[in-house]
Amino acid sequence: MHPVIEWKDGTVVMLDQRLLPSEKKFIIHRGHLEVAGSIKDMVIRGAPAIGIAAAYGIALGVAELRDNPGLNTPGFLQSRFKAIVNAITATRPTAINLFWAAARMEKIFRENKQDYHLLREKLIAAAIALDKEDFEVNRRIGANGQTLLKNDSTVLTHCNAGALATAGYGTALGVIRAAVANGKTIRVMAGETRPYLQGARLTVWELQEDGIPVTLITDSMAGHVMKKGMIQAVIVGADRIAANGDTANKIGTYSLAILARHHGLPFYVAAPLSTIDADTPSGDTIPIEERDAAEVIYFQGRMTARPHTAVFNPAFDVTPAGLITAIITEEKVLVPDFSRAIASLPGLRQK
Ligand code: MRU
Repeated sequence: MHPVIEWKDGTVVMLDQRLLPSEKKFIIHRGHLEVAGSIKDMVIRGAPAIGIAAAYGIALGVAELRDNPGLNTPGFLQSRFKAIVNAITATRPTAINLFWAAARMEKIFRENKQDYHLLREKLIAAAIALDKEDFEVNRRIGANGQTLLKNDSTVLTHCNAGALATAGYGTALGVIRAAVANGKTIRVMAGETRPYLQGARLTVWELQEDGIPVTLITDSMAGHVMKKGMIQAVIVGADRIAANGDTANKIGTYSLAILARHHGLPFYVAAPLSTIDADTPSGDTIPIEERDAAEVIYFQGRMTARPHTAVFNPAFDVTPAGLITAIITEEKVLVPDFSRAIASLPGLRQK
């Protein structure tokens, strides 16, 4: 699969995920404000992917200053860098990967700000490295998590936590891909993920491209298929995991976790360490993005409710740690007590 994002000849090229599955079109970004716009408008989405986009966007913002005479003025680069980071991080509030990637780029800035040309090259190299690293991380998440999936089973997933949401391979879908690569027969049930339909448009497309059997259901069918014994496990990605294991993910995830508990099914979260926010003690303080009412009122350009209907459109919800069976990371599979497990992660301290 073509990467969803790449650095090419001094530009940032992104697959426009808004058009999938009907059209495969790439957008070339020549400035950081364009990248910020694309993150906000969901050209690229999924926590790890928007982290990568943030890194590329910041590198691009600094590269844009190349011929700026202001570079000779003390304090200019510092203030421009701050403005670039602010523009990129003001796009979407919930996925911590965005802020994690920006913090990585800020560190490179602090270490190299004395020499603009060196700084520019270092930031570009750091963004490319972060992109490559995410791909490897996903492979390791897959290898760690696949042992949890039983042969000849059906796994329910939500939203898109696949190659399209990452540098490739995916987190939740990476676990499924790894299980299939290990010879297991796995069938996937994908919830459509109203209102933005990441499940129907992206997850189904991705799995079909890979030849992994997938059946689409509407979100409201989840309880029914569990009761009927049609599901053996639930696996989702994450946008932010608090220090106690509470997990923010696409709206509807919490309901699935409750349903899974009621039906005695394991509920797995697959996510890189970059999604763990050890500075946020619990899910109560994770900021939840609210999106435009139009996403709920319109369906494929057609209005499905009266124009002034009051709408509440939170893009994410928080699943309490107590409903999660395991959190699959590239380091290891974490099991309760998550507070202890997260605090003892060696990878986190290196961040
Ligand atoms: O609003 P989105 O499409 O960016 O939301 C994405 C999700 O909620 C994913 O499940 C999550 O980011 C994990 S992606 C590996």
